[in-house]
Amino acid sequence: MMNRRILVTGGAGFIGSHVVRLFVSKYSNYHIYNLDKLTYAGNLENLKDIENKDNYTFIKGDIRDAKFIEDLFSEYQFDAVIHLAAESHVDRSILDPLIFLETNIMGTVNLLNACKVSWKDDSGRNLFYHVSTDEVYGTLGDEGFFVEATSYDPQSPYSASKASSDHFVRAYGNTYGLPYVISNCSNNYGPNQFPEKLIPLVIQNALNQKPIPVYGDGKYTRDWLWVKDHALAIDTIFHSKKVNETYNIGGFNEWQNIDIIKLICGIIDKQIGRDDKSSEKLITFIKDRPGHDRRYAIDSTKVKRELGWSPSLTFEEGIEKTINWYLGNTQWLKNVTSGEYQKYYERQYQ
Ligand code: NAD
Ligand code: TYD
Repeated sequence: MMNRRILVTGGAGFIGSHVVRLFVSKYSNYHIYNLDKLTYAGNLENLKDIENKDNYTFIKGDIRDAKFIEDLFSEYQFDAVIHLAAESHVDRSILDPLIFLETNIMGTVNLLNACKVSWKDDSGRNLFYHVSTDEVYGTLGDEGFFVEATSYDPQSPYSASKASSDHFVRAYGNTYGLPYVISNCSNNYGPNQFPEKLIPLVIQNALNQKPIPVYGDGKYTRDWLWVKDHALAIDTIFHSKKVNETYNIGGFNEWQNIDIIKLICGIIDKQIGRDDKSSEKLITFIKDRPGHDRRYAIDSTKVKRELGWSPSLTFEEGIEKTINWYLGNTQWLKNVTSGEYQKYYERQYQ
């Protein structure tokens, strides 16, 4: 295994922290540089267990700052990038689209420019790994799946910004010969997810006996993947030696929101000894999200067939692990929900 200097962006966030931990622990001959602005969603507590490892360095910085990014590449000579830094929440993108454009599009282009300038050798070690979402494909009816060839049709400011960033990555590959891979993943769940996203929000509100907000009729459908399986998929694709390829990653695990919410309520009642069905009483149907995508479903056959990746956990196992993690980390929840998030929560659910 060769030595590598890998820049991971957004490594203090939910998925990024699992990717950083996996790479730092598994590849002692790699040095992992975690670049993160530490927005409301970035939290170094997520990486406490690995922060003192010799092959890990945290760098606080903003991908929107082109000069800073250029200087960083000159200083560290990264030979690969795994790019996860982003504004990631659809509801926030509806309230304030501009920051999504700045971070997700401009920030990505700043990184692409720095790679273009910095990568001169053709030894095959350079790679820009762009972590994207299934939401770029738009929304499905009752039937069918997103495949890699599905046309882009983003419906929210968030997905429009991610789609645009995907286009820029491919354009740099095509125009400048930049080696890249893109993976488009379905909804992730697991430890360390910020409680603005459905699953941790439901867990938190059920624990605190607060109303559980369900948008519209609750029959919107998502395909859920255990976050550590996503990190393993990224590891597999990163090391596959494939370039200028796209892979869909998903769990073949579709759930309507209302069914997931009831499942979580039931597990929480059992785990903390509440009466059966008592948490379900907190379910509150509220006004729908504007432009709400009805259904996402990923066909991840290609990554399984070509690279042998498939999910390691069933949803029933994963959701129980997730709930137990939140039950055992109430201080983490308290810490991340003070301050900035509270202001957003009041604005969103007033
Ligand atoms: P997250 O919001 O938990 O984390 C994002 C991280 O990026 C945070 O640590 C934040 O501080 C950092 N960041 C934001 N703006 C920055 C900037 N300007 N400069 C440097 N760092 C900045 O997001 P997540 O859920 O972990 O998602 C990570 C990536 O995976 C995103 O690109 C997202 O689009 C993609 N994705 C997420 C999901 C999901 O279900 N969460 C599914 C598919 C794809
Ligand atoms: P979310 O976790 O925000 O992910 P995404 O919108 O990127 O798929 O939402 C998942 C689903 O849950 C989506 O259909 C919206 C719905 N939802 C609610 O019903 N209530 C909520 O409070 C939130 C945050 C989401």
